[in-house]
Amino acid sequence: MITVEVSNLTKIYESSYKKRRITALTNFNLSVEEGTVFGLLGPNGAGKTTLVKVLLGIVHPTLGSAKILGQNINNYEIRKRVGYLPENHKFPPYLNGEDVLRYVGKLSGCTNDEINSRIDGLLKLVKMEKWKKTKVKKYSKGMMQRLGLAQALINNPDLIFLDEPTDGVDPIGRKEIRDILLNLKKEGKTIFINSHLLSEVELISDRVAILNNGLLIKEGTVEDLTTNKETYSIKLTDDIDKLWFEDNFKDFHLGNITANSFEVKVSDEKELNLLIDELRKAGKNIKEIVPVKTSLEDMFISLINESDKKKTNE
Ligand SMILES: Nc1ncnc2c1ncn2[C@@H]1O[C@H](COP(=O)(O)OP(=O)(O)O)[C@@H](O)[C@H]1O
Ligand SMILES: [Mg+2]
Repeated sequence: MITVEVSNLTKIYESSYKKRRITALTNFNLSVEEGTVFGLLGPNGAGKTTLVKVLLGIVHPTLGSAKILGQNINNYEIRKRVGYLPENHKFPPYLNGEDVLRYVGKLSGCTNDEINSRIDGLLKLVKMEKWKKTKVKKYSKGMMQRLGLAQALINNPDLIFLDEPTDGVDPIGRKEIRDILLNLKKEGKTIFINSHLLSEVELISDRVAILNNGLLIKEGTVEDLTTNKETYSIKLTDDIDKLWFEDNFKDFHLGNITANSFEVKVSDEKELNLLIDELRKAGKNIKEIVPVKTSLEDMFISLINESDKKKTNE
């Protein structure tokens, strides 16, 4: 089942001051499968928060439509099944951890019994049980994020939106949050994470989308996005005579050559097969051919640069 479905969504913020118009999302399309972790990546100002706010009914779309949990986003009843950790959230400073969960639980339409039965478990889950009675004004940024995650789960939601969930959290806390999210996924929940921290998202997301200047520039599994389909590393059984090799294979785009392997950039599979034919003709024994991977970070930076360049040329 598709849990989040966005169709041709455009959001233009208009301010009366100087009649300024900011296009935060342009003709955006997206589907998120039930029970998956979906990472939305993009630099600051890309439109990530706007998308989440549209899906939650906090911001109204200018054009297009969207559905969550099979219902149109205008159907506010469906929000009872949704959890939300806002970016830069602020809870009233005079409340303690327990009060915050109670307050959000009430807002989410939970009964007192439901809230009472969940508070301790949730505080334990995010390792905040010791701080239950401490006012949130005394919490560190990391503690606020932990409590933020707990409050997003108070209504036992099926769909969870987390906007920059590990912002200000130390590395151990981040790992703990990742483990919590993976457990939630095991329970069948759908998790939608906005982040500018690639490595985090890379570790837990089933699929990621990259957003820049309100445009979806790439979507797929981390594996899809980090496999550079055109570059292959080819290992041979015997050592390579570098000079002979460069001379006889000069029609191919050779990359790094080592004692018994080399990289090659091809325009398609046909060219790869042609290269294999040539290697076999030359009596070379092929041991291994593997597509070369780039890190998500390298891919992200090159995609954003490309999309920024395109924008400047327009
Ligand atoms: N309420 C608003 N009014 C006007 N412009 C806004 C508003 N909220 C966000 N924007 C603008 O929309 C763009 C996308 O912002 P946002 O969705 O917050 O991006 P991200 O979460 O990826 O950093 C930015 O240019 C931002 O300045
Ligand atoms: Mg944001």
